Amino acid sequence: MNVFITGASSGLGEGLAHHYAKPGAVIGLCARRAPLLTELARAVAAKGARAIIYAVDVSDTAAMKKAADDFVAACGAVDLVIANAGIGIAHRTLEGESEPIAKLMRVNVIGVTNTVVPFVPVMVQQGSGTLVAVSSLAGHRGLPGRAAYSASKAAVITFMDALRLDLHGTNVHAMTLCPGFVHTPLTAPLSGKLPFAISCDEAVVQMTTAIALHKKTFTFPWQARILRYLLKFGSERMVRRLSPPARTAAPE
Ligand SMILES: NC(=O)c1ccc[n+]([C@@H]2O[C@H](COP(=O)([O-])OP(=O)(O)OC[C@H]3O[C@@H](n4cnc5c(N)ncnc54)[C@H](OP(=O)(O)O)[C@@H]3O)[C@@H](O)[C@H]2O)c1
Repeated sequence: MNVFITGASSGLGEGLAHHYAKPGAVIGLCARRAPLLTELARAVAAKGARAIIYAVDVSDTAAMKKAADDFVAACGAVDLVIANAGIGIAHRTLEGESEPIAKLMRVNVIGVTNTVVPFVPVMVQQGSGTLVAVSSLAGHRGLPGRAAYSASKAAVITFMDALRLDLHGTNVHAMTLCPGFVHTPLTAPLSGKLPFAISCDEAVVQMTTAIALHKKTFTFPWQARILRYLLKFGSERMVRRLSPPARTAAPE
């Protein structure tokens, strides 16, 4: 199986790379931190798969197109693309700072389209393949302290929904994964207890199962599916009460 994964240098992306590293597979590992990708490539190779490293910023449209072209040239058929790279930011809207929000949108929204779209004609020509974007439970409703993050993840869900309609009849599937809280470096700085948080390994099992089953928009774990319903249809008062802690410091 030939798989291209963004955000492969840590957390969910790294876990997904380990999962798909089987003998004969080719795994494209994309993120900015090359040393971490090199270390992961060694682990992938030790499992009998071939790793190709792309130390690229997903918000760079030209560089992502080049990476996709290179991956297609290296492995011929592409079975699976996972646009997983994403960031969270401190809540700055009340202070009037828009640049961190623009940066988040470039990574979380444009980064996803930069990842997925170059592979669309390739898969359509193949007549097979799965395109996956990683959104979030937060994409189902705007949450306090997460205006930009929620909006970016909602954009991802909507984009992939529309792409799936566009792909109708091509045998290429587009889908979205919406995790609740998962213990990864992304959530490590969040203060307080994270409701219904699961381990990274458990999340990878749920994500890869949903991918194999060609789900459309899959929210997990099951408690997050109940929260999704409550968030979607609940009052603003209820949303304020249900919302988990937000970031208090910028991630980088
Ligand atoms: N953990 C959770 O609770 C949770 C919940 C809902 C949704 N999610 C989503 O799941 C995805 C993975 O998150 P995670 O928890 O695994 O976080 P993580 O451990 O912080 O991993 C994020 C990955 O994204 C990469 N990345 C960030 N900015 C990038 C850029 N500009 N270009 C290329 N790569 C970039 C990082 O690599 P480099 O820094 O090396 O570039 C890293 O590999 C994200 O989209 C996140 O929003 C996570």
